[in-house]
Amino acid sequence: MTFLKVENLKVYYPVRGGFFRRVIDHVKAVDDITFELKEGETYGLVGESGCGKTTTGRTIIGLNRPTAGKIFFNDIELTKLKRRDFYQYRKDIQMIFQDPYSSLNPRKRVLDIIAEPIRNFEKLSPNEEKTKVMDVLEKVGLSPESIYKYPHEFSGGQRQRIGIARALTLNPKLIIADEPVSALDVSVQAQVLNFMKDIQKEFNLTYLFISHDLGIIRHMCDRIGIMYRGRLVEEGTKDEIFEYPQHIYTKRLLSSIPQMNPEERIQHTAFRRKVNEEFKNNYDKYFDAEGKIFDLKPISETHSVALP
Ligand SMILES: Nc1ncnc2c1ncn2[C@@H]1O[C@H](COP(=O)(O)OP(=O)(O)OP(=O)(O)O)[C@@H](O)[C@H]1O
Ligand SMILES: [Mg+2]
Repeated sequence: MTFLKVENLKVYYPVRGGFFRRVIDHVKAVDDITFELKEGETYGLVGESGCGKTTTGRTIIGLNRPTAGKIFFNDIELTKLKRRDFYQYRKDIQMIFQDPYSSLNPRKRVLDIIAEPIRNFEKLSPNEEKTKVMDVLEKVGLSPESIYKYPHEFSGGQRQRIGIARALTLNPKLIIADEPVSALDVSVQAQVLNFMKDIQKEFNLTYLFISHDLGIIRHMCDRIGIMYRGRLVEEGTKDEIFEYPQHIYTKRLLSSIPQMNPEERIQHTAFRRKVNEEFKNNYDKYFDAEGKIFDLKPISETHSVALP
């Protein structure tokens, strides 16, 4: 059984224009991607801003409609389900949204923010509900009294924990974590990331971990998919991607990580120069005549690269 399978997914956004606001073009936010998640693993989706990471995540939880392609969760085709039937699976798939500032309603108390998903699925008495919310708050390391506070009364890191608590209330199996720490400062980042690892073990969670930060991806992920302009250019285990990158775009991403260690800095500068050269001189090795990205082809059991 496949835990999650995304098959030939395309998500195009219409571009409207002219007097009648007719559809004049499409933004191909996601343009034919296929990948799988195994239960209990962390799969990282990496790529520069606008490459389609959030759109992929939103489509998996049903907030966007696919233009084409299929999504299977435990062998059930989600993309075929009616809205009403899909609802049942929404419980098992939760999302931590990119921005902890705008994703929490500022006019609602923490109690209501966290209880909202429970109210949609379970009928609990006010007391049971309160106990349950206090329970998850404790799991994410926030005090029980927090339930009466409003989002602005928390720090960024605490707010992100509220987002995680909300995602955890229904005991999901899959969490789509969209840049869960990018709005936080570095000291708090580590704390939230380690916490996410702890709860993963405790609840056997599977993460689709979206980030543009390769350092964080390396810390968190078992396998990684590199996205570029709505397509996957490379996929492999963490070691394959970091130690043995094959696609020029992956190499460019890796070469752009700043090197802190002065001894390795010279080497790294040379690597960056080499990659830039290769990008200039061998562009047509990696992109077709129209500049499009090839389909992924396996080069080992776990490693695939978009090459002709
Ligand atoms: N609702 C929308 N309508 C039209 N175009 C959209 C919409 N949402 C996203 N896009 C476009 O789709 C593309 C992919 O956007 P997406 O938000 O998935 O990128 P991302 O990889 O998450 O980027 P970031 O790292 O900045 O969060 C972008 O070109 C974006 O402008
Ligand atoms: Mg995004």
